[in-house]
Amino acid sequence: MTAARLIEFEESVKWIDDRIFAKTGKRLDSLQISILEATLRGQKYPQIAAEYKFSTDHVRKAGWKLWKLLSDMLGEPVSQSNFRALVQQGAFANSNNNIVNSNNNINGSRDCSEVTKARSPASPQPAQETPTELHIDLGDAPEIFNFYGCTNELATLQQWIINDESKSGDRLPSPTRIAAILEISGIGKTTLAMGLIDIIKTQFNYVIYRSLRFSPTLETTLTNLLQIFSDSSEITHNIETQISKLFNHLRQYRILIILDDVQALFSSGQLAGQYRSGYEDYQLFFQQITEVPHHSCLILISSEKPREIAELEKFNLPLRTLVLGSLGMAAKDILSCHQLLNEEAWETLINTYEGNPLWLNITATLIRELFGGRVADFLQYDMPILDESLCWRLEQQLQCLSEQEVAVIVQLAKEKEAVALSQMLNKIKLSPSDLIKAMKSLVRRFLLAPQEQVKTTVFTLNPVVAQYVKTRHFP
Ligand SMILES: Nc1ncnc2c1ncn2[C@@H]1O[C@H](COP(=O)(O)OP(=O)(O)OP(=O)(O)O)[C@@H](O)[C@H]1O
Ligand SMILES: [Mg+2]
Repeated sequence: MTAARLIEFEESVKWIDDRIFAKTGKRLDSLQISILEATLRGQKYPQIAAEYKFSTDHVRKAGWKLWKLLSDMLGEPVSQSNFRALVQQGAFANSNNNIVNSNNNINGSRDCSEVTKARSPASPQPAQETPTELHIDLGDAPEIFNFYGCTNELATLQQWIINDESKSGDRLPSPTRIAAILEISGIGKTTLAMGLIDIIKTQFNYVIYRSLRFSPTLETTLTNLLQIFSDSSEITHNIETQISKLFNHLRQYRILIILDDVQALFSSGQLAGQYRSGYEDYQLFFQQITEVPHHSCLILISSEKPREIAELEKFNLPLRTLVLGSLGMAAKDILSCHQLLNEEAWETLINTYEGNPLWLNITATLIRELFGGRVADFLQYDMPILDESLCWRLEQQLQCLSEQEVAVIVQLAKEKEAVALSQMLNKIKLSPSDLIKAMKSLVRRFLLAPQEQVKTTVFTLNPVVAQYVKTRHFP
């Protein structure tokens, strides 16, 4: 932090501290000051916890209390997500202080290189000449403003990728070469990966993020990756040579590559995980990453389980899959950010929307706009109520289903209870083979969840998806 900014920050903290003292008779403690300072740097609770050696839960609770205190003091909502902007607007100063950035750049995390020892996950770093230094190229990765929960998931991924014995008793045969993060859209896969980068980046020479959402061919993706290591003019367009060059780099350096939105490589209207025509090379590439020795790691993020992942995980290969579950009660922080009321009803709301952060964010906005933030009033209606933008999101996911899958979800949406495959056969005009393929495909899209009951497996459609299916007219 420059001397001028340091003084500005200290003035703001003093201003806050004086008012809190006047109101409560207590001074800000060192954790509260650390939270303020780290929030200005764009850091989230897990990072603050790691840096200041507290548990994430402890820091989150302290943060929660602090924002409430500041909200009461200022007479307007203050949270981790708007604190930086409020400081910049001079809300915590007698004069119009501008602490974060004097260049009118609200995005403080991209302007905090002097402050942070390691940058915010979404802040690309300039290319380094020396490969032994950390080189972060996050391309078009989204900037993450809030990151709650996921402590176990982060620890698991960290242990798989770094193979750190201190994190668990069982040492894996070798560090994971492919870690797949999977689940339905909106559950927080990208957010989790961004949080992970911040924790493990110092273990790598290069950290690279690329989204495949516009379905680049393997050649385009490899060219894009190789440009990080060599001059564009030196890059050949022969895929075999490109792969071999990339492997040289994967062996020479420790590289973390995150490929997001892998589902964009798959065909629409087909069963899950089927590559579009001309994209089959990816399958071979992913397989090679697991088979060829190197000490780098590829994280694949997808809302559809790639077939080769399903097949390769049967073997004892350095490949692991994390299916991200509900955010659980950590989602209360999301509702708190939206300043919702009736805290006693939050758990029901979270469960109704399957702990999906995107669905909860959309619904929380609806509750704020139409119900004055009163969750209890909203929950009086038949649940789940789907906001228009949530319907739009669901539509995007259902558009890629095959005809047989549509037939299955339409039938399952009518069911009040979980059904077994044999029961489905009596209700739907599909051959057993087609029904099994369709069900397996829906499971791989995380729309259908199998549950083990006494001597039988039963299936339920995701209740939010089921609600949408009921209201949508399928041809
Ligand atoms: N742990 C979290 N804490 C707070 N907010 C979260 C968390 N995880 C996700 N979100 C929020 O939920 C929304 C969806 O998250 P994200 O984009 O990471 O989901 P995704 O699984 O990658 O979805 P998609 O498959 O559509 O890319 C984002 O607005 C994100 O900020
Ligand atoms: Mg994503």
